[in-house]
Amino acid sequence: MTERTCLTVVLAAGEGTRMRSSLPKVLHPVAGVSMLAQVLAAAPHGAGQRLAVVIGPGRDDVAAEVRQARADAAICVQRDRLGTAHALLTAADEIGRGADDLIVVFGDTPLISSTTLTRLREPLAQGAAVVVLGFRAVNPTGYGRLLAEGDRLIAIREHADASEQERAIALCNGGAMAIDGRLALQLLQKIGNANAKGEYYLTDIIEIANQSGMKASFIETTEDEVRGINTKAQLAEAEAVMQQRLRQAAMEAGVTLIAPETVYLAADTKFGKDVVVEPFVVFGPGVEVDDGAVVHSFTHVVQAKIGKKASVGPYARLRPGTVLGEGAKIGNFVETKAAAIDAGAKVNHLTYIGDAHIGANANIGAGTITCNYDGFDKYRTEIGEGAFIGSNSALVAPVTIGAGGYVGSGSVVTTDVPADALRIERADQTTKDGWAKRFRETKMREKAARGSK
Ligand code: UD1
Ligand code: MG
Repeated sequence: MTERTCLTVVLAAGEGTRMRSSLPKVLHPVAGVSMLAQVLAAAPHGAGQRLAVVIGPGRDDVAAEVRQARADAAICVQRDRLGTAHALLTAADEIGRGADDLIVVFGDTPLISSTTLTRLREPLAQGAAVVVLGFRAVNPTGYGRLLAEGDRLIAIREHADASEQERAIALCNGGAMAIDGRLALQLLQKIGNANAKGEYYLTDIIEIANQSGMKASFIETTEDEVRGINTKAQLAEAEAVMQQRLRQAAMEAGVTLIAPETVYLAADTKFGKDVVVEPFVVFGPGVEVDDGAVVHSFTHVVQAKIGKKASVGPYARLRPGTVLGEGAKIGNFVETKAAAIDAGAKVNHLTYIGDAHIGANANIGAGTITCNYDGFDKYRTEIGEGAFIGSNSALVAPVTIGAGGYVGSGSVVTTDVPADALRIERADQTTKDGWAKRFRETKMREKAARGSK
């Protein structure tokens, strides 16, 4: 198997008008990662495994997503949307370069796995010319039906072209197909467009292979794996399936999810050992949580690293570029962005830390704000090891608080504080003895006078 070369062609042309969105269908995310990137991740990788993606004209955004996921992918543009076989033939040059196996997969089936695609190729090594990925549909309406005799596939009948009897068949075409790479072009070129939609159907390849005395077969998978996304409701269904899978995988890897159904994960969330995630936590893309860390309820984390035994939340927001060291603590109503917070540092309450570095074991008091933005540019705040920032301080960046430095509560710090120094900004305080009592008495007298009128 491993010696066989392969070309995977992903069909991703078309806006997906039923999504009612300005974003092309295949760029919609499932678990924080675009459907297209998920399909590309499932496609065979490595030596001898090539990839081509068919996109619509003028879709620079889709092309960019392809390049980011697989820089080696060929991009083919389908100018007119004339059907799945027509789409595949826009990659004719790539197919012509030769491969043992050709896989065709749709860009809107994000739940497909690499193991299934490997399984799909296996019958080719045993002499099948075409292998289709089938599934038993709860409601087969709209899908192509597999007309099979034993393990042989005789034809695929598209829903619009199917008879009443054929429509009763639950075994459907999941969309992915493996074709003998040497036979693919000659089979594809025979496909016509005499059908209900006037399209060039890739599914016609089955009858053509049979007519040419070649063997067509199928394998089966679950409906969940081949869910095709055409609408926002189907997108939400796929998201639910994906979340279920990700939660299951996290728990199998040893993560404690106290209420798994309330935790949202991204396809790339990484967990160490003995991590505890409390109910109602959202992980966006690009998050790593190291061994023994605890993420408390109502926390939102995107593109951030949570170090060993760190503690986050409840009600914390870690934005992109946050890196927490071992045992660091982020408490309630704290927001961080582009912030390295070293081992043992504490930011426990009501604070914004942006574009900053906080040294090990520093303590940031409640209500501290790094003022990192002047409306035009962003500036950095540097807080040294073991520094102590008193509550309700504003650190106006660029500014450095030296190691062991101390900032008195309520200070607005605009210039650097040397190591081990105290910076304090206070107006003189005055005490007026008995003032409050006199104030109350005056007010009560005034109120009583008004009331007696
Ligand atoms: C297709 C199959 C059907 C199968 C179903 C599974 C055909 C003819 N039918 O039907 O048997 O049960 O998928 O979900 O293949 N595309 C292009 N260019 C085109 C047409 C389509 O790139 O000209 C791409 C689309 O972006 C999409 C995929 O091919 O990713 C499938 O096209 P779609 O129109 O959704 O086919 P279905 O009617 O769902
Ligand atoms: Mg479809």
